[in-house]
Amino acid sequence: MWRAVGRHGGGRATFEAAPNIALVKYWGMRDPERVLPYNSSLSLTLDRMRTRTTVRFDPEREADELMLNGTRIEGPAAHDASRFLDRVRERSGVTSYAQIRTSNNFPTASGLASSASGFAALAGAAAIASGLHLSPRTLSQLARLGSGSASRSIFGGFVEWRAGTRPDGRDCYARPLAGPRHWPSFRDVVVLIDRAPTKKVRSAEAMQSTVRTSPYYFERQREIPGRIARIRRAIARRDARTLFPLIMEECDSFRRVCETTVPSLDYLTASSRAVLAEVRAINDAARRPVAAYTHDAGAHVHVFTLAVEADGVRRRLGRLPGVRRTLELSAGPAAHPI
Ligand code: PMV
Repeated sequence: MWRAVGRHGGGRATFEAAPNIALVKYWGMRDPERVLPYNSSLSLTLDRMRTRTTVRFDPEREADELMLNGTRIEGPAAHDASRFLDRVRERSGVTSYAQIRTSNNFPTASGLASSASGFAALAGAAAIASGLHLSPRTLSQLARLGSGSASRSIFGGFVEWRAGTRPDGRDCYARPLAGPRHWPSFRDVVVLIDRAPTKKVRSAEAMQSTVRTSPYYFERQREIPGRIARIRRAIARRDARTLFPLIMEECDSFRRVCETTVPSLDYLTASSRAVLAEVRAINDAARRPVAAYTHDAGAHVHVFTLAVEADGVRRRLGRLPGVRRTLELSAGPAAHPI
């Protein structure tokens, strides 16, 4: 088990976690207080990008403090981090406030999932610093309380977050499906869109508005278990031909429930839509699924492909108007203490 440095209510620990991109989306909570989702979801933890967070509980402190890349942060992000520490304090019996020092090796407000890696790293650091001895599964349940998708960043490679059915959430946790070395040629070409608007409504609120108002939400719920089973099988067999169309079908289903939410949630720009169209055109021309697009609640697009196709896909997508740049990522590691 992981151990904190220092004790007597003054523990300190550092933890690192990577963002993940969902192949099957989490969107809607059956219990918002416990962050229990309606459906299971499935993701790939990414390499190269990471968040590193140090938590230090200090009996002398009079409030929690959040430092991001060396700058003191106030407002909603600091409030969320402090509320998350309250949950850790409840569990551990630690009563002191803490300083959180966190840094991302990628731009924070860029629309690249920083909440998943952020809360996964914070959960790990806070748990160890407060003397909680948690298994990775239990840590995924703790991270979930900060941001649902953070539960999946506890593990590397392909990860499933099981929705569970129990009201107390004990059967709701993330688990690894296939480690980062399972499919070495699998690539995520991240297409960064120029002037991607920043989120107006937070995901946690936006998704509940979808649950309440989209006429397709529960139809989507009925499709998901079958889709997850097929996606899981295709990943196990490293079968891109089967997997890629399923990923796009899922993304289209997610976008449909967002767009039919009242008021409508539209996360894409014209350039993001051009990327989706270009991926369809690449597949049509090749008469086989060369690539698959997906996006989260933001304008950037993730395009999955295999290593042999990655250069060609990047060239095609990189020259579309409004595309700032592309990054080529692979499967990344589990969250871990430093
Ligand atoms: O973890 P949250 O509350 O930021 O919500 C994430 C929602 C999506 O990114 C759109 C989907 C997902 O499963 O990651």
